[in-house]
Amino acid sequence: MGTRARREHPDIDESMWTAIDAVIADNRGKPGSIITVLRESQEIAGYLPVELINYISMHMNLPVSEVFGVASFYSLFSMKPKGRHTVRMCLGTACYVKGVKEAMARITNTYQVEEGETSEDRRFSLEGVRCLGACGLAPVMVIGGDTYGDISADKIIDILDKYE
Ligand code: FES
Repeated sequence: MGTRARREHPDIDESMWTAIDAVIADNRGKPGSIITVLRESQEIAGYLPVELINYISMHMNLPVSEVFGVASFYSLFSMKPKGRHTVRMCLGTACYVKGVKEAMARITNTYQVEEGETSEDRRFSLEGVRCLGACGLAPVMVIGGDTYGDISADKIIDILDKYE
């Protein structure tokens, strides 16, 4: 009797596990279906924690290393939880020159979130991105569907405080 991947995780409730089981059942044995399974599982669970990857590999009868390889290769997959709000800071040249790094440092210090990470309280995920094509507004920040231009380190906390 092999070891069973444990079907438990604080971020995945019973109904999510049931939905994930259905995705696995639909795709098991189909060549190349692991990307579909990971994508749909991430939609259900919000991200792909290690325990979920183990579970999927076991039930898809695939080596864990292979599933990990796929999950880490594609940027669409996240193995870390996302915050309620994703803050994207443009790190393009125009924004850089106009002080986006200082603004970003202010966010890191105020909300305890590093670039590429999510704050403990899952309020914010902070990402650095390439030129957003709005250089005239530099420095530029995007939160969800909202774009903010000419953000300075001094203004930025007032803006972020509106996002609970
Ligand atoms: S460099 Fe930031 S929008 Fe272009």
